[in-house]
Amino acid sequence: MARLSDEFISEIKYRNDLGELASSYMQLKRRGRNLVGLCPFHGEKTPSFNIYTETGSFYCFGCGKGGDIITFVMNIENLDYMEAVKFLAERAGMSLPEDDYDDSMSRMRTRIYEANREAARFFYSKLISKEGAEGLAYLRGRGLADSTIRHFGLGFAPDERFALGDHLRGRGFSEAEMIAANLVFKTKSGKGVVDRFYNRVMFPIIDVRGNVIAFGGRIMSDGKPKYLNTSDTLVFNKSLNLFSLNNAKNSKSDELILCEGYMDVIALNQAGFTNAVATLGTALTPDQASLMKRYCKEVVICYDADEAGQKATARAIDILRRAGLTVKVISIPDGKDPDEFIRRHGDKGHAAFQNLLDRSGNDMDYRLRKLRSQYDMSNAQGKLDYLNEGVKLLCELNNPMERDIYASRLSDETDVSKPMITEQIARQLKRKERGRNKEEYARLRKQISARDDKINPQHASNLRAATAEENLIAFLVHNPDKLTYIHERLPAEDFATDFNRRLYEYFSGKILNNLNPMNSIAADFTADEQSQVVRIVNSYQDMTRTTQALDEYIAIIKDEASRPSEEDIRGFSNDDLTSYLKSMKDKKQ
Ligand code: UTP
Ligand code: MN
Repeated sequence: MARLSDEFISEIKYRNDLGELASSYMQLKRRGRNLVGLCPFHGEKTPSFNIYTETGSFYCFGCGKGGDIITFVMNIENLDYMEAVKFLAERAGMSLPEDDYDDSMSRMRTRIYEANREAARFFYSKLISKEGAEGLAYLRGRGLADSTIRHFGLGFAPDERFALGDHLRGRGFSEAEMIAANLVFKTKSGKGVVDRFYNRVMFPIIDVRGNVIAFGGRIMSDGKPKYLNTSDTLVFNKSLNLFSLNNAKNSKSDELILCEGYMDVIALNQAGFTNAVATLGTALTPDQASLMKRYCKEVVICYDADEAGQKATARAIDILRRAGLTVKVISIPDGKDPDEFIRRHGDKGHAAFQNLLDRSGNDMDYRLRKLRSQYDMSNAQGKLDYLNEGVKLLCELNNPMERDIYASRLSDETDVSKPMITEQIARQLKRKERGRNKEEYARLRKQISARDDKINPQHASNLRAATAEENLIAFLVHNPDKLTYIHERLPAEDFATDFNRRLYEYFSGKILNNLNPMNSIAADFTADEQSQVVRIVNSYQDMTRTTQALDEYIAIIKDEASRPSEEDIRGFSNDDLTSYLKSMKDKKQ
């Protein structure tokens, strides 16, 4: 990676404030010196995302993500390192030193975006030319207006194997770039390249920043595959993106409609529902749910009415709720998908769909109805079983008022008195809360310690030394003026764990060069290492700030270093061992 100068990074950090920047993406509350809020990188209901103003860094105790302002931008804007630096430089009105911007990966990304954009232009121009007549007829035949076709930039890939490749070559794109964009692939003979898409109508996939990141191509007959999509590339990951989010994010609604297919979204847009998005041929992922959470509070699931669609609905409800979103479900009558439904209603498509939306129960309605259908409500046992399962469902609601409404409904349906039901709910909730807290705690501990162990594998077997090392590192970062004092007493060899020794040397180097020790962590550490660095540096409490505490850390590290290692002990003679054991006994007294 090309290296930007420390001074440049330092300038960027001086001119951009992490707290202020983060506030434009999320709500933050001040807590002492720090800021706290709901983590934008994973779904959660209680805030565990912290911004440490002193060190200009963030750490989430929920998902363990952490880093500096550059890492924050990389994550929230989905950018690589250079792009994030550029983003921050532009935001602060600075220009990037030209010759620094030669990172090859990032240049390839830019080329892929450019190739995709050119491909989209090419497909569109083919669609409206004579060659694309069949494609245009197909799209019009599916009820799309020319303005809709243009708005979505739909296109046509001609029935030839070299059309796009030749065109892009003529525009200066190399084969490597076209292959990296997944627009062409090498032939078996390895001599040339052929187009990935041919004889299909094309749907460009555009991200929230307006980049063409991928394509879906539909066959116009019954052949297979029905849709061919771009495989994952440097700029596209199908489980991180949503079709038409670029349009939906501009709709004024704080609700998104989640569909299964390209055509559903396009038909909904044409009918005036611009807040529709679709997953890209895969099941909804937690990442996509978090992405939606940035733009809305509520998601209306509008999947196909077939069995697969219903299964997917149940899964999506779960994932969306976990991301902290309110969920509603639309069931479309007669087993149609949203596109077919709207088309069948012709001019009245908008009103008909709006009617479905208005009547759409939230997911609780939907699930209770489904549950009820599984029991024989004509006998007492059936009602009781329904009640027990129903209560469990209600306990998933966070809003007490909502729970109350459904408790009334359960009471009506089963003839069991409402106070009895309310009591059962309360009991169930308590049990659940206890279980959940324990589970969550155990899960996070396991997750974070597994990751930490990977970064610092010597930590677990050197607990005492490693803890002192981490405290010392935190102390050093917060008190760079103590560098000489520490160095005079503690050589790096005394560190028991390699990772902490590396941090000690790293931060010392920065301080010696008069730099903020945290200046370049985004460039110098991997994402996981960075999380660990930020955790260590910020777990710095007031009580650990005294020079006395510092002396203690140094003493512990030295004490641990003076112990013979297991390997040493194995090589001890009998006499050595006796005198070592004696010295340990003396120390104990
Ligand atoms: P569907 O099979 O439900 O198709 O796939 P559809 O959206 O109703 O398509 P039309 O109306 O027949 O044109 C739903 C979505 O799953 C993905 C596509 O994103 C599609 O829109 N898919 C489907 C694929 O990626 N590949 C396929 O072969 C089929
Ligand atoms: Mn369809």
